[in-house]
Amino acid sequence: MRTDVAIIGAGPAGLLLAHLLAQDGIESIVVEARTKEYVAARIRAGILESSSVDLLRSVGLGAGIDTGGDEHRGIYLQWPSERHHLDFVDLVGRSVWLYGQTQVQADLVAASEVAGRPVYYAAADAALHDLETEHPYVTFTDADGTPQRIDAVAVAGCDGSFGPSRAAMPDGKRDTWERIYPYSWLGILADVAPSTNEIIYAWHPEGFAMHSMRSATVSRLYLQVPNGTDVADWSDDRIWTALATRLGHGQDGWQLTSGPITDKSVLPMRSFVQSPMAYGRLFLAGDAAHTVPPTGAKGLNLAIADVALLAPALGRLVRKNDTTLTDVYSDTALRRVWRCEHFSWWMTSMLHTSGDPFDAQLQLSQLRWVTSSAAGAAGLAENYAGLPIGF
Ligand code: FAD
Ligand code: PHB
Repeated sequence: MRTDVAIIGAGPAGLLLAHLLAQDGIESIVVEARTKEYVAARIRAGILESSSVDLLRSVGLGAGIDTGGDEHRGIYLQWPSERHHLDFVDLVGRSVWLYGQTQVQADLVAASEVAGRPVYYAAADAALHDLETEHPYVTFTDADGTPQRIDAVAVAGCDGSFGPSRAAMPDGKRDTWERIYPYSWLGILADVAPSTNEIIYAWHPEGFAMHSMRSATVSRLYLQVPNGTDVADWSDDRIWTALATRLGHGQDGWQLTSGPITDKSVLPMRSFVQSPMAYGRLFLAGDAAHTVPPTGAKGLNLAIADVALLAPALGRLVRKNDTTLTDVYSDTALRRVWRCEHFSWWMTSMLHTSGDPFDAQLQLSQLRWVTSSAAGAAGLAENYAGLPIGF
């Protein structure tokens, strides 16, 4: 097969890139290791920055957000005995949207199918070749077991943290930075109306807790747990009791309503960056190049911001053989990546307990500052609500 851009990975980065390229008249073929059903069912991020929403709307992908999304003015930050609301609209003039990654993915798949764009699901052994030439290609085995080859002008590595693209850049041509955190999140989905109108991030001596939601009838909640935690050790009762304690059930009359838990999983927390995000004709986007711990709600937004930069750059390369934008793609994307890496690390460090009493006092001091100082609150709000694409 021959196309303009071979895209590895049909997550949000890969499918949105294919969509943006198609709007510009550029062809692509997407190769995805998992089945369509598996990709559609993954429960992940929940928050879209305003610039992500603006971009999705501007390319015809806003209908779902308008009908099923929920605009949030800000977040609650709390610790035992105090809960504060930070109003991002008042602080920095921007809101965020609660719209699950599952819904974003469904919108992207629907758009891809309506347009008849080629996506090879359940593809095995994807491999990248001749990236340092002007004729790169990708090989894989399709769902029927037939070997396939895609020749392209460029390859986009949108295959997340565990795909082959990252490693296709030779050692010595890339730098990586990584931090593994000493705790994980136990995440649940529950069939119960959220007990809050906007997300609550809670510091507690027993560990961080968070109350998010997916709809008027579905709640999404998280608990800080030690690494290596087995979900089997967390009964529904134990989870709801820990959530009630850490989220402050009874504090100033606030009640946490429990309900049937429909999904439980443990998520490790990691920061990772690989630089540069390009090598020859290979361009990395989204989790293929970087990972953030979820406390800052940045993972999905970073993937969207990367492909918003990459699509016009690839357009120029394909149409005019002009490398002006592809040459600066990595540096431009990494500015925002490192800002989000810092913010995600900072939110994570401020809210998760380490067991060290000195750390706890520093965290509480930081929380008091960001909730009582206009400058402190605006800094958090500017980062959480998101910087403009291209920052
Ligand atoms: P992905 O969504 O990972 O997509 C990459 C795609 O590439 C996948 O479909 C994968 O199957 C495919 N692929 C992998 N290997 C191959 C291969 N060999 N060949 C072909 N295809 C391949 N962010 C938040 O902000 N909040 C959260 O609560 C949150 N929770 C998360 C929970 C989990 C378990 C994970 C893994 C991530 C979570 N994230 C969260 C991060 C967020 O979901 C990601 O940042 C976002 O999905 C990035 O999109 P992407 O398209 O770059 O990568
Ligand atoms: C979620 O709704 O899953 C969610 C929201 C905000 C975060 C992380 C996860 O920071």
